[in-house]
Amino acid sequence: MSVIEKIKAKAKQRPMHILLPEGTEPRTVQAAARIAAEGIARVTLLGDAGEIAKVAQEKGVELGGVEIQNPATSEKSPAYAQLLFELRKAKGMTEDQARELVTTNPLYYGAVMVKAGDADGMVAGAIHSTGDVLRPALQIIKTAPGIKVVSSCFIMELATARYGQEGVMIFGDCAVIPNPTAEELAAIAIASAQTGKSLVDLDPKVAMLSFSTKGSAKDALVTKVQEATALAHAQAPELELDGELQADAALVESVGQLKSPGSTVAGHANVLIFPDLQAGNIGYKLVQRLAGAQAVGPIIQGLAKPVNDLSRGCSVEDIVSVVAITAVKAQA
Ligand code: ACO
Repeated sequence: MSVIEKIKAKAKQRPMHILLPEGTEPRTVQAAARIAAEGIARVTLLGDAGEIAKVAQEKGVELGGVEIQNPATSEKSPAYAQLLFELRKAKGMTEDQARELVTTNPLYYGAVMVKAGDADGMVAGAIHSTGDVLRPALQIIKTAPGIKVVSSCFIMELATARYGQEGVMIFGDCAVIPNPTAEELAAIAIASAQTGKSLVDLDPKVAMLSFSTKGSAKDALVTKVQEATALAHAQAPELELDGELQADAALVESVGQLKSPGSTVAGHANVLIFPDLQAGNIGYKLVQRLAGAQAVGPIIQGLAKPVNDLSRGCSVEDIVSVVAITAVKAQA
């Protein structure tokens, strides 16, 4: 069974209520029909019911079991506008602006609906940018208790079982924080390990990657990774984590034992933490393209309730998969 099949099976065990705000977008409508039919989640589309029905008919799908809410006319909109105003008035939002956002921008209506506890999670991005999807989530849903930073990771399903946990690895952060501080890097490491545990039953062994192993090079970039390693150890002493490590020391036992003798992580890492977003984003795409790995994500981590972003080139199958991931995150 592939990683994503296992995640779908987990999602079906306890179906969560997931919102798809881009409710008239054709791939989203098709995905909603499949999610409901397969019992992966309880699903709500946002948008005009007539328009959604027209898209469903054009695509030849049945929307049995799919719920629909229209932010423009929903009886919930006044309460959601009031909640948004209360949450954002200190940032200068007026009541009129809150009403306008809730009734005309489904990403804001959706984020408030999740915040209010009327849905367990949200998936969007088929027609919106990463920033447009994440901003309402960051502003309204905010971080989980005790968490200061929202980041992301990918599940990498490798073509060989030689690396990671039977070929499964987590790469973080590859999509959210461009230039993390040492504190943010430590948070990314802890959150990525947790995502690996909750989604793919990973026993995390976390490598804090650098171009240096254990002081072999001296540079401010290396110092940042060393500081992040120390912070992560202090914040999660039970976590198996080592750094700073070069990628070969993290992955290859002979190199790991030579460069970081006695480490239980070096040579066996299954969670790779990249020092910044350029390295992380380039790194996952290289492994995906050159090594033929399946990259599942980005999976957003650190929010109080799960919101995930789609690529604008996503397929119906991608949307179904991201909804399953979001549902399993919501179960946790
Ligand atoms: N964690 C927690 N809170 C955050 C974070 C974060 N990482 N980033 C921003 N916030 C909060 C801010 O504190 C602020 O809260 P407030 O308004 O209550 O004070 C709110 O979110 C908005 O902050 P801004 O700085 O205005 O947010 P911004 O517009 O910069 O957007 C975003 C944040 C979208 C995450 C931005 O950092 C970003 O664009 N990152 C890169 C995304 C990207 O392009 N990824 C690569 C492509 S994805 C791929 O290839 C798979």
